[in-house]
Amino acid sequence: MEFGELLQTRRSVHQYSDETIDSETLESIFEAATLAPSGYNLQPWEFLVLREGDGKAALREVAYDQAHVTEADTAVVVLGHTDPMAHAEEVFDDWLAKEYLPNEDVRDGLLENVAGMGEMPESERRIWTTRSTSLAAMTLMYAAWDHGIGSCPMEGFDPEALAETFELPEAYEPVMLVTLGYPAEGASDIENERKGRRPVEEVVHYGSVEADGSTTLSIPSPGDD
Ligand SMILES: Cc1cc2nc3c(=O)[nH]c(=O)nc-3n(C[C@H](O)[C@H](O)[C@H](O)COP(=O)(O)O)c2cc1C
Repeated sequence: MEFGELLQTRRSVHQYSDETIDSETLESIFEAATLAPSGYNLQPWEFLVLREGDGKAALREVAYDQAHVTEADTAVVVLGHTDPMAHAEEVFDDWLAKEYLPNEDVRDGLLENVAGMGEMPESERRIWTTRSTSLAAMTLMYAAWDHGIGSCPMEGFDPEALAETFELPEAYEPVMLVTLGYPAEGASDIENERKGRRPVEEVVHYGSVEADGSTTLSIPSPGDD
């Protein structure tokens, strides 16, 4: 699908058909998700994929009983590793081999930077992993829609209950859930006019810093008209 059309027609889908997503298609969607950008290319994302058995029912229980979790063909728990060092060595070895880095000293310097990031408080590391992992989740949803597969991102879940149910290792942040499936015939999310968006003028603010150091920022304070 052409990108503009993909962008305009994607919806968060809540009603799914019984059609199964074939495993090659699913694989290609996850492959696309791994092409998302990430800080230092550290790719902190991992995907817990629930299709068969009781996994989806268990997920629905910790997702405030949202029905599309079990009605979708596939439910994905998008996880972010909270340790920046988790994959740093392999990532920087790849950069060195491909000559993005001139030598091993530079690689070692980068490893030190990332090790320093690993010293951040846990709350900051959770934010750190959420940035990159969310981009992978968005890429996953666009890749799915390119195959006609609908998706819904979800923050409506209890992260502690989820971690307990699926025995998540402590290093992982459950960033969001994504349901995936072919939309049901006549699904309202697809048929209805798209939900409104705040106007561009309201959300885009051009700012500048002048030579004298003064700033021109036009972000209104809360309460301004
Ligand atoms: C971070 C995030 C969390 C969301 N959580 C839920 C959720 O828990 N349940 C749900 O049904 N939809 C959820 N949504 C879907 C939104 O309701 C939906 O994206 C929004 O209404 C805009 O509709 P659209 O995606 O069809 O354009 C979430 C979306 C985002 C981005």
